[in-house]
Amino acid sequence: MSNLLILGGTTEANALAKAVAEQGLNATYSYAGRVDNPRPQPLPTRVGGFGGAKGLARYISDHGVTHVIDATHPFAAQMSGNAAQACAQTDTPLAALTRPAWVEGEADKWIHVANVDTAVEALSGPAQRVFLAVGRMHLAEFAAQPQHHYLLRLVDEPGSVPMPSAEVEVSRGPFTVEGDIELMRRHGTQLVVSKNAGGSGARAKLDAARALGLPVLMIDRPKVPERTELGTTTQVLDWLAHNGF
Ligand SMILES: NC(=O)c1ccc[n+]([C@@H]2O[C@H](COP(=O)([O-])OP(=O)(O)OC[C@H]3O[C@@H](n4cnc5c(N)ncnc54)[C@H](OP(=O)(O)O)[C@@H]3O)[C@@H](O)[C@H]2O)c1
Repeated sequence: MSNLLILGGTTEANALAKAVAEQGLNATYSYAGRVDNPRPQPLPTRVGGFGGAKGLARYISDHGVTHVIDATHPFAAQMSGNAAQACAQTDTPLAALTRPAWVEGEADKWIHVANVDTAVEALSGPAQRVFLAVGRMHLAEFAAQPQHHYLLRLVDEPGSVPMPSAEVEVSRGPFTVEGDIELMRRHGTQLVVSKNAGGSGARAKLDAARALGLPVLMIDRPKVPERTELGTTTQVLDWLAHNGF
């Protein structure tokens, strides 16, 4: 029997889960377990790492997974690498549900950096009021530049914050341009730090920065292995149908 594994944790994965459930397909949704209360899914759900590529290969064999959709965030490069390796090893069809990267417009003032380390280096100048919109995983790295005042927007209340001067805004969105303009004005933001996630969910802060004439330190996407990339839920359903699901 066909059995789909969706590697999730994104808006796109949630939309796919809904469509897959509506079609009555046999599938499981997988969360890494990073947030306190993950959104309930209309599919059987598992939470937590698999134990690397080997662990995922074992999971695929043990659970009779026949197809894998990697619908993780573009910055979840470790998971995407593991998925490619495990699927190759177990000869399991794999496709990724992805979204195009954001592209700088004429009125944007983006400073491109290759990764989180270079973003931290780029912040070595004098103190500024920085809107750090990169999630809680990388806060410790940015604490190496403690001269800044940071505005942190996080999905959950963090236990503690590693930088001496910071304010936390807890919100899962969706965010609006008007709301983000108001937020940045209220906090006197001078610089926005963002991952190039793409998609519409987190775009508002970039449009707000543009409207306010603020620079954005834009962290480029990590490299992921070559794989079939699909852009919409419909394309995923078609791909499954064409691949014997
Ligand atoms: N990175 C971001 O900016 C970002 C933003 C929004 C949402 N997310 C979501 O948050 C999750 C973790 O992202 P990350 O950047 O920390 O990933 P990552 O660095 O690529 O993955 C680290 C490890 O977490 C586990 N993992 C990641 N995604 C998983 C999933 N969907 N199901 C089961 N285990 C998973 C795997 O552990 P094992 O090796 O033990 O299998 C993986 O090796 C992903 O589901 C991603 O879609 C990430």
